[in-house]
Amino acid sequence: MKVIGLISGTSMDGIDAALTEIEGQPPEIKIRLLDYLVHPYPSGLKERIRRASSPAQSRVDEICHLNFYLGHLFAEAALSLIQKSGVRATEIKLIGSHGQTIYHLPRPIGEPGKYGQLEIRSSLQIGEGAVIAEKTGIITITNFRARDLAAGGVGAPLLPYLHYLLFRSQQSDRVVINIGGISNLTFIPKGQRAEAVIAFDTGPGNLVIDGLIRKISRGKHEFDQDGQFARKGRLNRRLLDYLLSHEFISQAPPKAAERNTFGEDYLKNIRKIAKDKSISAPDLVRTATVCIAESIALNCRRFIFPLGRPETAIICGGGANNLFLLECLSQSLPGIKIVTTHEFGIDPKAVEAAGFALLAYETWHQRPGNLPRVTGAEKPVVLGCIYPAG
Ligand SMILES: Nc1ncnc2c1ncn2[C@@H]1O[C@H](COP(=O)(O)OP(=O)(O)O)[C@@H](O)[C@H]1O
Ligand SMILES: [Mg+2]
Repeated sequence: MKVIGLISGTSMDGIDAALTEIEGQPPEIKIRLLDYLVHPYPSGLKERIRRASSPAQSRVDEICHLNFYLGHLFAEAALSLIQKSGVRATEIKLIGSHGQTIYHLPRPIGEPGKYGQLEIRSSLQIGEGAVIAEKTGIITITNFRARDLAAGGVGAPLLPYLHYLLFRSQQSDRVVINIGGISNLTFIPKGQRAEAVIAFDTGPGNLVIDGLIRKISRGKHEFDQDGQFARKGRLNRRLLDYLLSHEFISQAPPKAAERNTFGEDYLKNIRKIAKDKSISAPDLVRTATVCIAESIALNCRRFIFPLGRPETAIICGGGANNLFLLECLSQSLPGIKIVTTHEFGIDPKAVEAAGFALLAYETWHQRPGNLPRVTGAEKPVVLGCIYPAG
């Protein structure tokens, strides 16, 4: 079955769209990436979404509008991919769209209920599925996180199931590290079932580097191309120790970061420290980059290595293109071979989008897509809302 997966992650760099061929049923599902593209957001949109995601700046009329506007852009991403791939739209059975996260509140907030105290966890992804289904004429599945939250989970991460299907091995333990705006890892013990997988957010990812680069370049650059800017700097040990002392980094799993965990306030704070301590811009970016690698390594040492010893770490997400960050990871994880998903024939930037194609495929077959051990949900649940083709 041909399925398209769509996502724009916390980096808000645009929509990743993956065309996949998926066959079989668990645990023998086969996924092949047929084609992939990035549909960039029009200029200025990232800033509008960022404002819409900020409790201090957002407006409900803008969120209402952006939900439908992004629906159109996600439909455009799917249509561009169909055109690029040369596959006919009628051959595509499903679209699985994660949308764009506006807000994520995985920690329960108490509310009074008729039958006792309610524990409310919530999340809001926008990019209206009705618009995607209408504009593409393809059955569209969206809103994957909600059902896991309803079942008491933290709604994230949802990709470990894909990591398990693509990268598991009978011979060796594997760790998959996804470096998007936030970083997360998936540990896959050798020869075990999906239920044995452990996964969680480890701490900051590209979000911090992107935010610093945007400020330093006064908006001229959106990210540190290949890590070149960080490479020019020197590590500031004291700042690194301070950054690594952030409580989220050493917190035990299950844990899911919110955009705000490493958002605007976090950035403001480290820029202020850099200014007060006269830390140069390259030193700051280098230290922030080393912090990503070190926080991943810290989580490995504390929560993964007591359970198994992976020989290889498989890197995906946009951070896999940051060559300097990959070198930092090699240093932070001595004895572990660092490879990107290119080694498995998949562009690291396409992995997440392929993940939502897989989740749509599972939902279509009325099978669960969450891993309760990973999200903390009470049970496996079938994820998403289905919009008919029309
Ligand atoms: N060549 C590159 N060099 C350095 N960083 C890169 C490169 N390509 C992509 N990135 C980083 O990857 C980020 C996007 O990664 P992605 O996996 O899409 O994250 P998210 O899921 O949070 O949107 C960009 O914002 C940028 O920081
Ligand atoms: Mg992205």
